[in-house]
Amino acid sequence: MHRNQKRTMIRTILAAATATLSLATAAVALAGDVAPAPNGIDIPEDYKDWRVIGISHRTDNNSLRMILGNDAAIAAARAGRTNPWPDGAILAKIVMKDASHASWPAATVPGQFVHAEFMVKDNARYAATGGWGYARWLGADQTPYGKDANFVQECHGCHTPMKDNDYVFTKPVALP
Ligand code: HEC
Repeated sequence: MHRNQKRTMIRTILAAATATLSLATAAVALAGDVAPAPNGIDIPEDYKDWRVIGISHRTDNNSLRMILGNDAAIAAARAGRTNPWPDGAILAKIVMKDASHASWPAATVPGQFVHAEFMVKDNARYAATGGWGYARWLGADQTPYGKDANFVQECHGCHTPMKDNDYVFTKPVALP
């Protein structure tokens, strides 16, 4: 191959590699594009990979909920260390509207995604709200919930009846 031809070829390969790299970077930027909650909590990036702690069905607003935990929460649940939950544990609740299975209407299955919300255990940082940092993101575009950082009073207020259970409603599901 002629020297000039070789140079052109290397340039083309380099340009293609650079384009691929910047595409990859753009994809990463998009994935991490969810704005933080008004109290500064970021959406946990890997929450869709977390494991199940419990499920619930609300008949007052016709929705299904998956309650998931990060590794620290799952370890605590398995060890029965949930009152109190340890620092570092994060609980997630993913809410979806009820839908009927198309081929088996008696089966209630997850329909439209409503919101994802989180409780982050850090006793020192969130001492004012029982050691839990609260955050919620709405809808498929994951809009942060709350006008300002005070939105957590609403969360904490409704979780306060569960004070004797470290403010948590969900009991880890018992499996054989
Ligand atoms: C009106 C009452 C109410 C309010 C307000 C409320 N919650 Fe809850 N939350 C519940 C109940 C009841 C459960 C139990 C499971 C369910 O809903 O199916 C729960 C469960 C949870 C769970 C799973 C862990 C657990 O305690 O069982 C998380 C995480 C959570 N809520 C986060 C939040 C966040 C964040 C906010 C505020 C943005 C909030 N909650 C506001 C009533 C409330």
